[in-house]
Amino acid sequence: MASRLRIKGGKKLSGKINVGGAKNAVVAIIPAAILAGDICTLENVPQLLDVLNFQKILQSLGAEAEFIEENTLRINPNTINTYDATAPIMSEFRASYYVLGSLLARFNKAKALLPGGCNIGLRPIDQHIKGFEALGATVDINHGVISVEAKNGLKGNTIYLDIVSVGATINIMLAAAGAEGVTVIENAAREPEIVDVANFLTGIGARVRGAGTGTIRVTGTPHRIGVTHPVIPDRIEAGTWLALAAANNSDITVENVIPVHLDAVIAKLKEMGAHVEEGEDYVRIVSNGNLKAVDLKTFPYPGLATDMQSQMMIPLIRAEGVSTIIENIYNNRFKVVNELSKMGIKVKVDNNIAVVEGPQKLSGAIVRATDLRCSAALVIAGLCAEGETIMEHVYHLDRGYEKAVEKLQAVGADIIREEVQI
Ligand code: EPU
Repeated sequence: MASRLRIKGGKKLSGKINVGGAKNAVVAIIPAAILAGDICTLENVPQLLDVLNFQKILQSLGAEAEFIEENTLRINPNTINTYDATAPIMSEFRASYYVLGSLLARFNKAKALLPGGCNIGLRPIDQHIKGFEALGATVDINHGVISVEAKNGLKGNTIYLDIVSVGATINIMLAAAGAEGVTVIENAAREPEIVDVANFLTGIGARVRGAGTGTIRVTGTPHRIGVTHPVIPDRIEAGTWLALAAANNSDITVENVIPVHLDAVIAKLKEMGAHVEEGEDYVRIVSNGNLKAVDLKTFPYPGLATDMQSQMMIPLIRAEGVSTIIENIYNNRFKVVNELSKMGIKVKVDNNIAVVEGPQKLSGAIVRATDLRCSAALVIAGLCAEGETIMEHVYHLDRGYEKAVEKLQAVGADIIREEVQI
């Protein structure tokens, strides 16, 4: 059996959507709990596929990891008894590589399968490796297994990242929390998820300064404790619903958000002509459908997130005029364009540039999600299209959007999930 979505487009949506915890923060904080000194209680944890995978990985290492409430995960790292994380599930998603930094900090040794994840272009981990080596570890890759070992323990060092990388910044922070002395990460990524991981590490006893800027200082400690930590809201989930409302002439309020994390998306939606109102923890968007073309460029935070690029394409398809999208992070993140062509849409792509001439009409079709954000864009497209859209490969959506169908139904969307024989 496989899931697919049946979407009937054309309905204006209205209402409030409660945004869940940030996927890309929680998939780093769960493995960070490996190096905590005692029980950690993580709140606002979305029950996403990657989170459930991580729960299994922690259990395979010997940890107790159970949801004690729907969105509260309790982890007891005291029972972890191995540094071997080569369970097959490791290669099913990207963030599994965070066990390397955490196990290294705890045992001075780690063994893991190389990560999988969305197929959106080249995704090397050379900067992670460079960081581990700078802290005194040797790294060996053989038959898809990466082994890292610091025979004489980890020692703080200064590491300049050649490329701004979320994953490398976090993985080095994790290892550095167990290292002797001070580690300085230069040209660090500044994403809010990094600040959340830094707050967690501070909570368990490490000293982290500068997270959210380009220079992060981590002072490791062997005296680590447990902590209760609420995960920050998911800015990409929130941005996705804002892009939906803009494209679909709707009135949607996203709640439980940190509006400043959405600055780049909000600025672009306003530039397109949508009306946006920001409160302390909510953002309301009202769109009357008169959208103007704009140009978008993806950048590391605080620039416009590459994770919002596919979704933003849909309001641009509905907007009047010629828009360009420049993708600066990944070299193959326009796969959604192929699927959109099945809905009658023409977008010209040349390497990392897409040109959208609008407005164009979307017509319902059978489409197939190729990655997480592509799936979100196709849902938006389906909700804006004339007629019925069927989206296959829903598992991509399930990796990043908790209860998406239920949330969309609650604001009036005609969308159902059905199980079909394959
Ligand atoms: N890069 C290298 N070497 C490295 C690491 C990265 O060349 O050692 C390159 C990548 O190939 C890419 C750029 O650096 O071109 C940025 O990659 P980054 O390391 O920042 O990405 P990531 O940590 O693998 C996280 C998110 C992605 C998000 C990016 C960029 C997680 C689990 N994933 O990936 O999220 O697109 O940062 O913001 O945090 C998604 O949620 O849909 C998603 C793909």
